[in-house]
Amino acid sequence: MDELKDKVVVVTGAGNGIGKGIAELFARYGAKVFLATKYDEEGSRVEKEFVESGFWAKYIQTDVSDEESVRSMIAEVGKVMGRIDVLVNNAGITIFKSILEATTADWDKVINTDLKGVFLCSKYVAEHMVVHKNKGSIINISSNHAYRTLPDTEMYAAAKGGVNAMTRSMAISLGQYGIRVNSVCPGFTDTNHYQNWLGAKENPQLLEREILDLHASGRISTPEDIAHIVCFLASDKSGNITGSDFLVDGGLTSRLYYSDKF
Ligand SMILES: NC(=O)c1ccc[n+]([C@@H]2O[C@H](COP(=O)([O-])OP(=O)(O)OC[C@H]3O[C@@H](n4cnc5c(N)ncnc54)[C@H](O)[C@@H]3O)[C@@H](O)[C@H]2O)c1
Repeated sequence: MDELKDKVVVVTGAGNGIGKGIAELFARYGAKVFLATKYDEEGSRVEKEFVESGFWAKYIQTDVSDEESVRSMIAEVGKVMGRIDVLVNNAGITIFKSILEATTADWDKVINTDLKGVFLCSKYVAEHMVVHKNKGSIINISSNHAYRTLPDTEMYAAAKGGVNAMTRSMAISLGQYGIRVNSVCPGFTDTNHYQNWLGAKENPQLLEREILDLHASGRISTPEDIAHIVCFLASDKSGNITGSDFLVDGGLTSRLYYSDKF
């Protein structure tokens, strides 16, 4: 997508999984990509890998749940590039735990990263875009858990439901400045995070078979599947799309219920 060439893009949580896949597709299209992720080891590794592949990439250590960290990351991008065109709020964690055992510390961890993090990054990027009068696109990586969910996911489902609601409000608030805001809601996506979750189950092979059977497409998503729609939402091709959310889940969430009888 030629129009993404030289765009200044910030991807949070770009050290792994979906975020890394999104950052890589932007970089392949010639964008200048900032990898705003929490851990030095993964941030430096991805930066090195991208630069060695001939891409423009820069790692900035960032904790999205910490206001000062977010503020200084955005200030640094602004100082180096003078503009920010695209923000992808991808950083996220999960704690799947019974509500009978979950603590307020667990709640704070999930909400501060998955919901407050989206608020903070969007706030400071939007502020920068408004002050510098540059139009832009914000894309929030939510989850199909914002629509339908499972037992023991209260904290995660609340955060992702909140992300979708906040997406709609931000789209309305920021439209007057030429800033579009949308969310992408992945279902099962093949990342280390997913593999670790699956691996911790009693019978991972059986569960994986069951998961695949629940998909109309017969497969789970890849980070590239998510990256393609994110790049579309960042481009002018989606110029009249704002305040929307997009499921990328192979039809999983469309199913009313599962039965082997039909
Ligand atoms: N993998 C899936 O099946 C799936 C499904 C639906 C939604 N999602 C969402 O997609 C996003 C990415 O998930 P993933 O599977 O790639 O996860 P992952 O664990 O593989 O990667 C998450 C990245 O975010 C970083 N990160 C964590 N906390 C951070 C913080 N406070 N500040 C900055 N960076 C931080 C991690 O270091 C890592 O680089 C998340 O928002 C997740 O909720 C994933």
